[in-house]
Amino acid sequence: MAASRLVVLVSGSGTNLQALLDAIDAHPGGSEGFGAEVVAVGADRANIAGLERAEKAGIPTFVCPVKDYGSRVEWDAALTAATDAYAPDLVVSAGFMKIVGKEFIDRFGGRFVNTHPALLPAFPGAHGVRDALAYGAKVTGCTVHFVDSGVDTGPIIAQGVVEVRDEDDEAALHERIKEVERKLLVDVVGRLARHGYRIEGRKVTIQ
Ligand code: GAR
Repeated sequence: MAASRLVVLVSGSGTNLQALLDAIDAHPGGSEGFGAEVVAVGADRANIAGLERAEKAGIPTFVCPVKDYGSRVEWDAALTAATDAYAPDLVVSAGFMKIVGKEFIDRFGGRFVNTHPALLPAFPGAHGVRDALAYGAKVTGCTVHFVDSGVDTGPIIAQGVVEVRDEDDEAALHERIKEVERKLLVDVVGRLARHGYRIEGRKVTIQ
């Protein structure tokens, strides 16, 4: 079986992207290897470490900043076309900090995976770590899920749990979450690619 084609979307440091690249590098190939390859990395802003990581790995990149388009709908169409040009089997949002629109979801729904730094459905949105801390949660973590038209509301694939410590600030807690998150994302993406999956309502089964 050929490796599944991944397009990864990033907005920042790209350590989750790097974890995927390292796992693929360690076991390249289709069913006999990791099961997937990164064919392109997209971003909503230039000059970020995530794009540098892709360039260093020799992977094509594209950038679609919202401000370059007349409306959010036009931006969404451009992001959809730029992603589609690489014919991905799966699209992975790994710290991509923009909510995509209807066209993107219509095109990639059911094969668009996001990683979020909280235990959904608790603390969705752009500040999952800060919101869990402010709420006084004693455990939090990360969620890898399929993206639907809501904000962090799609079917859950896997979750990882992280204890909140009394001395935690947002940065310290986020760093411990990301240690769990990178392993979880690599594990999930590899299994989706190698084994295939079914989504029935909210239930995701990896075959
Ligand atoms: C990750 O913790 C990811 O869950 C979070 O951004 C971080 C990206 O880290 N995403 C969100 O908060 C989306 N709402 P990275 O750039 O080092 O991979």
